[in-house]
Amino acid sequence: MILFLTGASGLVGSAFARAALRRGHRVVGAVGSYEGELEGVAKKISLDLTDEAATTAAVLDTFPDAIVNCAAVSVPEQCELDPARAQTLNVTLPATLARLAHHLSARLIHLSSEQVFDGTRATPYAPGDTPSPINLYARQKLESERAVRAAAPEFAVTIRAPLLMGDSPGGKRSLHERLLADWASGKTPRLYTDEFRQPCAAENLAEVMVELCERRDVRGEQHWAGAELLSRYDLGVKLRERFKLTEKQAPLAAVTRADTPEAAKKRQARLGLDISFLAGKLKTRAQTVAEQIEDLKVPPPVREWYFGQS
Ligand SMILES: NC(=O)c1ccc[n+]([C@@H]2O[C@H](COP(=O)([O-])OP(=O)(O)OC[C@H]3O[C@@H](n4cnc5c(N)ncnc54)[C@H](OP(=O)(O)O)[C@@H]3O)[C@@H](O)[C@H]2O)c1
Repeated sequence: MILFLTGASGLVGSAFARAALRRGHRVVGAVGSYEGELEGVAKKISLDLTDEAATTAAVLDTFPDAIVNCAAVSVPEQCELDPARAQTLNVTLPATLARLAHHLSARLIHLSSEQVFDGTRATPYAPGDTPSPINLYARQKLESERAVRAAAPEFAVTIRAPLLMGDSPGGKRSLHERLLADWASGKTPRLYTDEFRQPCAAENLAEVMVELCERRDVRGEQHWAGAELLSRYDLGVKLRERFKLTEKQAPLAAVTRADTPEAAKKRQARLGLDISFLAGKLKTRAQTVAEQIEDLKVPPPVREWYFGQS
């Protein structure tokens, strides 16, 4: 299959390109500012995805069997800093891609977030549960889901993903990369003991997305995540152990939501996802946290510091 991939240089997009290559697909990958090589991308194109005409021309020129949208302003704080740019990338772009998918009869795989839920519930959220976003990023993701569903109901599937683990092309995007950067510069990262997430590896999510490119019988909003729910603090401890660092080399400060009441208003306490629908349909299996982190790499920006530790 020919796959048109946006966000090919991102955490998920780069993992998707590798997974698609393993399945023998040809990926045309759009990047923004990234200049390096990307394994699995047969043809790399530089494209400003806020330019609707240029995006449309690139998709039509590719004439793909599937469009995979991994581009976004994916960090909630960055959405608050530039809401208009975030709206263009997080809502207008997926709506445009959905219209193109409908026009081309192409499959569309779009990514949304667990954050469409408010995180006040003790039990996992199912795909049919009513979303209740509490920050701008989450409101935009929900708006994108609705725009995609409206424009390409017969072709699109949107996956709500959780906190993602993995090695990003720039080595600065994901949680272990940010923790290692903090430790390398002598900082003590603060992690919540009372915010619970069900993390997933970007590589594992990418396998799910490739499967969904290859079959068209799953549509609408669906959930995927890992096999375990744990606090951000406990996840940080597991990452410290994975990289065999001591508490002295890699300190962590435990904080609670009550310590940061203003920030907590826009942060969800507990985001468990019910993944039983996709788990029952697909070959890819949800992974434990240990499986997700065992192959994580030390990113280039901190290698000198890391390998200098005795
Ligand atoms: N990461 C998570 O924990 C997480 C959790 C749940 C859901 N998600 C969702 O999963 C999807 C992928 O997230 P991610 O973490 O992989 O994102 P990411 O690592 O932040 O990557 C974002 C991608 O978007 C591209 N991009 C941004 N602006 C662009 C522009 N104007 N023109 C062209 N490309 C542009 C970037 O390209 P350049 O870098 O080349 O500029 C990059 O490839 C998003 O929809 C996100 O909301 C992520």
